[in-house]
Parts: sequence; structure tokens; C-alpha cells
Amino acid sequence: MIIRPRRLRRTRVLRDMVRETSVSPKDLIYPLFVKPGKGLKDPIPSMPGQYQFTVDTLVQEAKEAWGLGIPAVILFGIPDTKDPTGSRSWAPDGIVQEAVAALKDSNPDMIVITDVCMCEYTDHGHCGVIKDGDVDNDATLELLAKQAVSHARAGADLVAPSDMMDGRVGAIRQALDEEGFNNTGILSYAVKYASAFYGPFREAADSAPQFGDRSSYQMDPANALEAIKEAELDLEEGADMIMVKPAMAYLDIVRAVREICLVPVAAYNVSGEYAMVKAAEEKGWIDGKRVMMEVLTGIKRAGADLILTYFAKDAARTLS
Ligand code: PBG
Repeated sequence: MIIRPRRLRRTRVLRDMVRETSVSPKDLIYPLFVKPGKGLKDPIPSMPGQYQFTVDTLVQEAKEAWGLGIPAVILFGIPDTKDPTGSRSWAPDGIVQEAVAALKDSNPDMIVITDVCMCEYTDHGHCGVIKDGDVDNDATLELLAKQAVSHARAGADLVAPSDMMDGRVGAIRQALDEEGFNNTGILSYAVKYASAFYGPFREAADSAPQFGDRSSYQMDPANALEAIKEAELDLEEGADMIMVKPAMAYLDIVRAVREICLVPVAAYNVSGEYAMVKAAEEKGWIDGKRVMMEVLTGIKRAGADLILTYFAKDAARTLS
């Protein structure tokens, strides 16, 4: 035998030298939930190790993440009240607006991203306003734009629309520019599937739809060409970065999107993916730490530049 691939696997140092993919804490974006109140850090039962924070405890958590080398957080708000249009989502004294201001105040260097969506703020739990039993696309655009502008005004570095309305990136870009926020970026959840992997998140953010599901706006998991179409549309509308979500069952999509665009591609390692690893680890069925690193490495190998993950702190600790 002339060619023996095992020669390069012989020692740890040799394997390190020829490794093709690496995960670094700087690749990670840490999702955080914030709600009104003070001094709270309430565990989310379906996501062991994840919490609903109040602004004060959130600032501490972000500091800890920063100390581990994680450059960015993405915020999800749990408002005090909900209504049909989700009006608390664009209130200047809304929970995300307050959290952004506090985070930027305590650490101006940390990148603060905000999820822009209506589902946490509407009493019906859908990602926009309802007309004739479905989400009204064009009426929702105006509200998303208002929400994005209010996040920018609070100091957000990037806004991340996750609603999947058509034309929302363009509407948000235009509104941001009109208000003088031409330097606020857009990380678009361009390719977001109607997935059952979001289950634990909906418990964490109290955002489950009260009727029907999200399949009239989020994508069909069976479609791949449509992912390219969605990514290209959002790039034309001014997205600065593109996201694919979920990650683990969609690595082919991460690769395809990476190949067609010239902006950073992020993948969202979502709540259900996190919960599965944690549950199997708790049962003693898998080595949770190794599976975590294998998952994150796989997402990067597929082509993601950035990973949104609840494992951010654990992974950064493992990597240090
Ligand atoms: C809001 C939103 C969701 C997630 C991120 N933003 C839930 C949904 O679309 O129902 C899911 C994140 C996760 O599962 O970790 N629209």
C-alpha cells in the first residue's frame, strides 16, 4: 500500500496540524431571553442551563460570555403585556429596548443583535397582524420596520428579522436609513423553515401560535431551491448577513447558501437541537460535551461563518 490515510491520524499533534475546520468562541452568537423585573434568572425547563433574565442579570450573563471570548448576543424579549398588533415590540420603554441600552452601556464593544418579530408580542402568537385568519404580509411590514428602528435607536448593532414576511428586509432597510441609522446592520433570517425544532424556544419566549401554525410564512422543510431564492431576495433588499435556520437537519442548505453569496452566513443551532443533546446527556446516553463540539464543528464545516447557539458558553469554555 502506498497511500495510507492513517499516517496523518497517528498522533494528536499531527491531527491538529491537518485539521480542516475549527470552531472558535468568536464564531458564536449567544441567544438570551429577557423579561421585565429585577434580579431574576428563571430556568427554562426544556433548555437546561438556559434562563429568562431580567435586565440586570442579563448584563451579568453577557459580561460572562464576553469574558469567555464570545463577541455577540442576540436578544429575545418577553413583554409585560401582549395585544393583537404586538405594540410593546416598538415601545421606547419596551423590554428589548431597555436591555439593549443597558448592554451597550455596560460594554459598548459587545455586538448586540436583536430579534425582530411580532410573535412574542402578539396575543395570538403569530409573527404579524392577522387578517381573515392569516398573517397579513404588507400590513406587518410597517410594524416590523417600527420595531427595527426602535431597536436601532436603543443602540442595537444589528437587527435580525425572523418573521419571514416578504419584503421585510427592504422595508426595514428603508426605515432605518430614513431615521439616520444607515450604519445599523441587518442579519436576515432569510432561510427559515417551519420547523418542529423550535418547540422549546416557544416555551422559553411564550410565543406559541394560539391557532394554526407558521407554514403560510415559514418555509417548507422539503425545499432547497427556495432557500436560494429567499437568500438572493434578501441580499437584493440589503441584508448584510444571511441566516439559515435550523442548522442540524439543514446542513445541505447551509452549504448551498454559502456557495451563492458574498456575505457572512450564520446558522441557528436552535432550541430543539440543544434540548435533544441535553436530554440524551441527562439520560447518560451520549457524551454531551463531545456531541456539542461535533455538532458545532459540523455546522462550520458545512459552511457557516457564524453560529447562533445556546451552547455558546459551554463551547467557549471547552475551547479555552
Ligand atoms: C421568532 C423566533 C423563533 C425562533 C427564533 N426567532 C420561533 C419561531 O419562529 O417560532 C426559534 C429559535 C429557537 O428555536 O431556538 N419568530
